[in-house]
Amino acid sequence: MTAEMFTLGREPASYPGSQPESGYGSSRPAAPGTPRRIRSPVTLVSVGLVLAALVALGLLLLRHGPKEPADGGPSGALTSPTAPATPKRQSLRDQMPPGVRIGSAVDGRSLSLDPAYRDLLGSEFNAITAENAMKWRSLEPVPGVYAWTGADQLVEFAERHGQAVYGHTLVWHSDVPKWVSPDWPAERVRAVLQEHVTAVVSRYRGRVWAWDVVNEVLDEDGSLRDTVWLRKLGPGYIADAFRWAHAADPGARLFINEYGIEGRTRKADALVKLVRELRRAGVPVDGVGFQSHLRWDQQPRDLLGNLRRFADLGLSVAVTELDVRIALPATPQKLERQAAVYRQVLQACLAVPACVSFTVWGFTDARSWIPGYHRGYGAACLFDTSPAPKPAHAALLDELRRHSARGGIVPSPG
Ligand code: G3I
Repeated sequence: MTAEMFTLGREPASYPGSQPESGYGSSRPAAPGTPRRIRSPVTLVSVGLVLAALVALGLLLLRHGPKEPADGGPSGALTSPTAPATPKRQSLRDQMPPGVRIGSAVDGRSLSLDPAYRDLLGSEFNAITAENAMKWRSLEPVPGVYAWTGADQLVEFAERHGQAVYGHTLVWHSDVPKWVSPDWPAERVRAVLQEHVTAVVSRYRGRVWAWDVVNEVLDEDGSLRDTVWLRKLGPGYIADAFRWAHAADPGARLFINEYGIEGRTRKADALVKLVRELRRAGVPVDGVGFQSHLRWDQQPRDLLGNLRRFADLGLSVAVTELDVRIALPATPQKLERQAAVYRQVLQACLAVPACVSFTVWGFTDARSWIPGYHRGYGAACLFDTSPAPKPAHAALLDELRRHSARGGIVPSPG
């Protein structure tokens, strides 16, 4: 291949960047000594015309082109005066009345790895609960060696997003680290339990607004659940756990959290009795958490009346783990009934001044415990897997708007 060939314009068209004769951008620099090509008058005129056209277009754009968006959004974002601004999607946290938090359980992996998940979590909720990161097995897999990272990340995220943290959970019969042996003498069991409660609550002192001190202490028949704590320490372990937590952070609200108490059940009756006895004994129980893992086709019997009777004990009440599972497939009719259940639970919480928090157990069907635990069920959350808002999300927004339109006045039933 000789030099002349090049001068007469038969350059191989394929290799990129051959426009500029030499220097950066071209895939291969011109060989030294290659004579420069002389341009014909016609070419010069056409180049001139093109340049002129470009200048004209530039001026035109300057005068009539896109303007910087008023809200200082990303530069270059195209918001011409004619194009309708994309309406900011109404979020639940924007609509919540003062004094009631709207929360979600947080999946640690998604919090670290999924920006869309983080965005929705930050924009929709003003409170969060660790779905698993603050459980004993996650925090202290090896005796005395704490794995704080997941829990720290969650608390830091909440602080960056103006969210309250609801701590879940200090004493539970599940997720107990394997190194806690039921064969230990009672004093040793008691010592490690006290050490754990104190270590966790102290670490987040002033940064966690409430703790599930004990979780699921009752059996379905209302008796105390047969756990290693009950067997080794007797029923007093509940009061001790509250006193240890209170000593570690006197400012934190301390809850007893339970499921199957959303309606007038034997378990709910037993919990009223237990809490009344604890408070009479001066145990610092501040509130009761209603987990509320519900079904689309089953409405709790008298949720409002039940919330009220716990509130009448001088307690705060909170919906702590709400989801409404659907027998799949999730048809539009089932999604509407699901929305009605979500709305009913929110109405009950808004109707009871002592109801301080309304938390869903995960907000997207993409990150829900339901399919893994309730075979044939799913679609339990406010957002689908994309995550797009479902009728349940719209129902909650609508109920909050109606509530604020009524000036927060709760219509008397019937
Ligand atoms: O993180 C490990 C992972 O490393 C391992 O590969 C995988 C396979 O075994 O397990 C992962 O841990 C799982 C963890 O969720 C995180 O996904 C545990 O096995 C699994 O048991 C745990 O399930 C949680 C369950 O509580 C038990 O802690 C669910 O996500 C969580 O939604 C559920 O939440 C409970 C509340 O705490 C109390 N009330 C009822 C509610 C629903 O069961």
